[in-house]
Amino acid sequence: MSTRQADPGRDRFMGMALEMARRAAGRTAPNPMVGAVIVVDGQVVAEGHTRPPGQDHAEVDALRRVPAGVDLRQATMYVTFEPCCHHGRTPPCTDAILKSGLGAVVVGTIDPFPLVAGRGIRILQEAGLQVAVGVRERECRRQNLGFIRAIRHGLPTVTVKAAQSLDGRIAAADGGARWVTGPAAREVGHQLRDQHDAILVGIRTVLADDPALTTRSPGGRDAAVAVLDSQLRIPENAKLFEANRPVFLFCSASAPERALPAPVFRVPDAPRGLDLDAVLRVLVAAGQHRVLAEGGGEVHRSLLAGAYVDQMELFVSPRVLAGGAPVVGGPGFSLAGAPSFRLRAAVPLGDDLHLSLESTRDEILLDPVLYEPGAVDVHRAG
Ligand SMILES: NC(=O)c1ccc[n+]([C@@H]2O[C@H](COP(=O)([O-])OP(=O)(O)OC[C@H]3O[C@@H](n4cnc5c(N)ncnc54)[C@H](OP(=O)(O)O)[C@@H]3O)[C@@H](O)[C@H]2O)c1
Repeated sequence: MSTRQADPGRDRFMGMALEMARRAAGRTAPNPMVGAVIVVDGQVVAEGHTRPPGQDHAEVDALRRVPAGVDLRQATMYVTFEPCCHHGRTPPCTDAILKSGLGAVVVGTIDPFPLVAGRGIRILQEAGLQVAVGVRERECRRQNLGFIRAIRHGLPTVTVKAAQSLDGRIAAADGGARWVTGPAAREVGHQLRDQHDAILVGIRTVLADDPALTTRSPGGRDAAVAVLDSQLRIPENAKLFEANRPVFLFCSASAPERALPAPVFRVPDAPRGLDLDAVLRVLVAAGQHRVLAEGGGEVHRSLLAGAYVDQMELFVSPRVLAGGAPVVGGPGFSLAGAPSFRLRAAVPLGDDLHLSLESTRDEILLDPVLYEPGAVDVHRAG
């Protein structure tokens, strides 16, 4: 167990590591997105983040960037997620850390992956490094909620994204859904696509709008797409087939056989459409841990009713549409049973307002035991 004094800058350095990790969002699945910074005498000497699968993890990425001549024995690495200690597509990060001579490691949170789950920390401790765990832990867990849910429950994290009018409409009564909000809001919407693994839509949105669902921002990549389409009504020339990325079509066992440009997954029916648990588990099995639901209101309702939604990103236009498709459809929730969210940020974007909300159903973020009890005895710094 470490007796090292808490570093007064540790929250700040872990914040920098969190920011590094954020840069990897949407590019690491099925791995977690991790950030690392290496600090000597209060100065950051190197930063790194997870590279695409098969390439460097954050710790190795940061270690490679340490300038020649720096003595790492006096250095501390701040890393958002526990270093791995198993041979996967890359060698263990614990090996790289031990070889580097680093004196101390501050870990944001433990990796629940069963082959790690505290063992990475124990290996470093047993080799004599000073290790502390649990700095900005909640944020570190939230950032990797997709990975944590996937490992713990076989489900992804789901974000609902919608552009809506003041009165909660996502399309005008005459059917027009394009340009509910302005260009600044749309740009952030594209960044959200870039940061997620898969975009989930309902067939009525595809039939109404024929969206391309691509990322049109500089350096962006296109997320996979999943369509809920019980009777396989999707046109074979739908625009969403045009980009070079995986597309998952979900339908009911009773849907007609059709030759389509993407694989079809038959899943059980539920009272209000396809069984979302089955759908989301297929996505996780394919490594899609971060799902962005982009409509319409029926899909949002099913996701909210099933308590799958961890975040909402709402872009509110200062217009009243009245009568068009609602951001959440279907029958109402009772006040007591209503899905509830807390406001994380409210940012004006041109004439629109961007509301970022997170679910109050976040017990997984507070779970003290994300690892096998007894697997590791750590000094918790948080
Ligand atoms: N402003 C925006 O941000 C935005 C974004 C997207 C869409 N929109 C607008 O939203 C409108 C469409 O929304 P919508 O609510 O009518 O339809 P939707 O949510 O796009 O699609 C609903 C359909 O998906 C299928 N589905 C299969 N399983 C489901 C499940 N478990 N839960 C829910 N649906 C399931 C059902 O059709 P089957 O029975 O045929 O499978 C259902 O009718 C359009 O007007 C579109 O322009 C606006």
